Amino acid sequence: LVAQFQPKLLAGRKVLVTAGPTFEPLDPVRGLTNRSSGKMGFAIARAAAEAGADVTLVAGPVGLATPAGVTRIDVETAQQMHDVVVPAAASHDVFVATAAVADWRAVNAAEHKIKKGTGGVPALALVENPDVLAAVARLPKPPYCVGFAAETEHVVENARAKLARKNIPMIVANDGPAAFGSDANRVTLVDAHGSRELPAADKLTLARRLVGEIAARLA
Ligand code: CTP
Ligand code: CA
Repeated sequence: LVAQFQPKLLAGRKVLVTAGPTFEPLDPVRGLTNRSSGKMGFAIARAAAEAGADVTLVAGPVGLATPAGVTRIDVETAQQMHDVVVPAAASHDVFVATAAVADWRAVNAAEHKIKKGTGGVPALALVENPDVLAAVARLPKPPYCVGFAAETEHVVENARAKLARKNIPMIVANDGPAAFGSDANRVTLVDAHGSRELPAADKLTLARRLVGEIAARLA
């Protein structure tokens, strides 16, 4: 109902969103993942669609329904997310990276289930995953890039460092463990001009606020 009364702030715009965790296999039955629920990214996708955008949502493994009018592409690993998102991003106006992309994957996932045995515990050799957001920001004509940073300490300082490191105009910083899986969230917007804490709210309300903030910066 609310959506009908919202101005179509993103009419004619193409918005790409990543959401959820990634899953990095160790063997056919095990893997590395994290506690991201995908709720914030799905709320952003919904809010952007309500605002009139043409929205593509690239989702890791989550148990959430696709928002109305949103095109969804499911992926499992960080590499798959990178390979879908980076070529698609060039034709989008906005990229919102809410996904909690696994930072590392196994160097070699085992082809068969790793068995207990006399050899002791398996050694986990890890390698760093590609940074999807940084790769999009490096495109010749990048979309307006918004990062999310789940921090547990020095929230604004860490977020500001990420802004510079990834060369993006806006980061939404939140208190990770408190936000994961929760319906509510408290976030701080960090951009070149400063930082501003938004009032704590449910994720859909926050998503609509963020879409408004993004639309204002596109104009
Ligand atoms: N991100 C990404 N690809 C990665 C890692 C992160 O696209 N391989 C994006 C996330 O979607 C998020 C932003 O980068 O929008 C910040 O993610 P975060 O995990 O906070 O930053 P990292 O650079 O991975 O740093 P660290 O985890 O060490 O704090
Ligand atoms: Ca990370």
